[in-house]
Amino acid sequence: MFLNNTIVVTGASSGLGASLAKELASYKPNLVLFSRNLEKLRQVANECDEKGANSIAVQGDVTNQDDCKRLVDTTINNYNSINHLVLNAGVSMWAKFDEVTDLSLFQKLIETNYLSAVCLTHLFLPYLKKSKGLITAISSIQGEISVPYHSGYVASKHALTGFLNTLRIELKDKDVDVMLVMPHWLRGTDLRKNAFDKNGKKTGESKKEHNKESISLQECSRKILKGMVNRKRELVIPKKLKILLWLNLIRPGMVEKIVSGKVKDQE
Ligand SMILES: NC(=O)c1ccc[n+]([C@@H]2O[C@H](COP(=O)([O-])OP(=O)(O)OC[C@H]3O[C@@H](n4cnc5c(N)ncnc54)[C@H](OP(=O)(O)O)[C@@H]3O)[C@@H](O)[C@H]2O)c1
Repeated sequence: MFLNNTIVVTGASSGLGASLAKELASYKPNLVLFSRNLEKLRQVANECDEKGANSIAVQGDVTNQDDCKRLVDTTINNYNSINHLVLNAGVSMWAKFDEVTDLSLFQKLIETNYLSAVCLTHLFLPYLKKSKGLITAISSIQGEISVPYHSGYVASKHALTGFLNTLRIELKDKDVDVMLVMPHWLRGTDLRKNAFDKNGKKTGESKKEHNKESISLQECSRKILKGMVNRKRELVIPKKLKILLWLNLIRPGMVEKIVSGKVKDQE
């Protein structure tokens, strides 16, 4: 399926990015793994190589344009092309807006979750056009539905969704496809630990538990791989969550109540 394909995964040092890389590895692709923590990234790259992939770990920050350029150069110098760009790096928040003391967290959220996707897509696009490649962006169900304590995260994922939905139309005649992935809460990632609190600091380990509806990384990764093979337009994971998206169109007040209840359960 992905044999000899070149696949770039951002945010591959933990959580969904690491899980996706490891799932992809069995298909023996060329993997380029990108994030700030080189030690963790190398560990993931080693595991991927043991499964049959040919991996490179590139240290860098998605909000730094020079780092993004270096990622593109490393990819092209080593593998000469790219077939899949997986825009996964992300950061979240957990704070009520009227309690926020450091507004810079909103800038960081927009830069990491949205502007980095704009920059990397722009840099990789000439090569994706050549390969008729696929851009897979990990958005969130919060790219469509608003969730309390996440105002800046929700806004960044809405921006990402809007940007890529527009790009899909523009790239139709270039045979570059765009798949937007909208997962529900995932178990076993560092997103919550690294989320900004009201003071713009990392939340750290917390007692907040994801509820029973959260999904495993393996389940989510396998669905994304299937979606990549079929070049799906969008993926809502789990599928049943689409009901909430439809309900949001006709009864948004009801969805607000449901979502508020779910968030309260986790406090
Ligand atoms: N967890 C959920 O419930 C959930 C639900 C829906 C969607 N998502 C989305 O899934 C994606 C992956 O998140 P996750 O849950 O797997 O969280 P995670 O375990 O915290 O992983 C986030 C990844 O992004 C990287 N990253 C963060 N900021 C970066 C930066 N400035 N430059 C480069 N890399 C950066 C981190 O690596 P370094 O720290 O090494 O840089 C890490 O590898 C995100 O886009 C998130 O919004 C998550």
